[in-house]
Amino acid sequence: MEFLSNKPLLITDTILRDAHQSQAATRMRVEDMLPACEILDSIGYYSLECWGGATFDSCLRFLNEDPWERLRKLKAALPNTKLQMLFRGQNILGYKHYADDVVDAFCRKAIENGMDIIRIFDALNDVRNLEQAIKSTKKYGGIVEGTLSYTISPIHNEDYFVKMAKELEQMGADVICLKDMANLLLPPAAYSLIKRLKETVSIPIHLHTHNTSGTGDMLYLAAAMAGIDIVDTALSPLANGTAQPATESLVATLQGTVRDTGLDLTKMSEAAVHFRKVAQKLKDAGTLDPKVLNVDTNTLLYQVPGGMLSNLLSQLKQAGKEDQFYDVLAEVPRVREDFGYPPLVTPSSQIVGTQAVMNVIMGERYKTFTKESKAMLKGEYGKLPGTVNEDVRAKAGIAPEDVITCRPADLLEPELPKYREEFKDIAKSDEDVLSLALFPQVAPKFLAWRDGPKEEPAAPAAPKDAAPADPNAVRELYVEFKG
Ligand code: CO
Repeated sequence: MEFLSNKPLLITDTILRDAHQSQAATRMRVEDMLPACEILDSIGYYSLECWGGATFDSCLRFLNEDPWERLRKLKAALPNTKLQMLFRGQNILGYKHYADDVVDAFCRKAIENGMDIIRIFDALNDVRNLEQAIKSTKKYGGIVEGTLSYTISPIHNEDYFVKMAKELEQMGADVICLKDMANLLLPPAAYSLIKRLKETVSIPIHLHTHNTSGTGDMLYLAAAMAGIDIVDTALSPLANGTAQPATESLVATLQGTVRDTGLDLTKMSEAAVHFRKVAQKLKDAGTLDPKVLNVDTNTLLYQVPGGMLSNLLSQLKQAGKEDQFYDVLAEVPRVREDFGYPPLVTPSSQIVGTQAVMNVIMGERYKTFTKESKAMLKGEYGKLPGTVNEDVRAKAGIAPEDVITCRPADLLEPELPKYREEFKDIAKSDEDVLSLALFPQVAPKFLAWRDGPKEEPAAPAAPKDAAPADPNAVRELYVEFKG
């Protein structure tokens, strides 16, 4: 392998979003971010990922924080660095498909409140689910990262991703994100794929990975040699394991090479002092389980993304079936094949994961289906990449003629007027309406607390146990399990 580019490698730091989402159930509070913002803002990152993903849900559900207020505070504290968020296409940040007008309103409000770069992905790589978010982000002046959700399967080869990247560029993406959420992309394959992507599209390419299987640092070196433009890393206190490779290690590795990032390690060390204290606090609270820091090469076998490993473990713990962890890990790829090889990323990772947990703990495969599994098999999330096991689909009660083949959002009438009416007594702004639309179970409770009389000066303490990334799926599991 040789260096195919001589431009400085650009860095996005994930310390404010994916690092703590992957290691500590998304529990970092804005008060733990703000003291480090001045130094973070002076480092010269391409961007700071700080919002979206599970942070919005976690703010409302566990931290009694207004996610919009968090965004405004971060914007004010980080005037020189682009802010970046993760956005799940037509799901926005929730767990179902929303109508186009809700997607549009969310992009608008995110950008108005300070967001610069919106990374838009679809769990199934169905580009029809990215259309509206790409259009709206561009309309309101945001930068679009169109995302390839990387996975390995008989369907997902190099040609597949090269073709999809070209499509995203034609749809108006400003950057292509190669999202290796499960740390499956190995260095030689990455070198080859990135080289081809660079030959095919003329926009920058941004690589995202996790270090679950311990190959992340090697991946980034190979990617830097192949000409990747931007990579996602996390400052060392919350790096590695299920989170991103460490920023400092990569910056040091490339010093003096043609891809020298030019970033100052001394400043990073200063920021790391702060985040080491935050990480310790998360450990003390029990939200950072040191287990997630181990190198786990099972991810290469089971293709399970970082966040999903801890969620499966937490689901099994709650059911008192921790001893069946490895049986569930073995069941995940079987369910995935039956479901037509969806990449494993929110929400498909929770859907496939919860179905695998149920198949194992019920002692019989597909004895019962979650509502979400049925919806996925019916095509409500979009087109599944491969062939679905028709026996499984029939067991779920879905006839072939009931499968949806159009863009799922085409079946949805505008929803915003309905939400505005429904929440007119408790929403104080359009931002509140969006919080309520996305999280109708938890947002009303949060708003009642935020807008209610404050006798207690302090916010109620967050619960200590780790949050499942998809509480609906888990609730469903227990309803089904008990019922
Ligand atoms: Co990630």
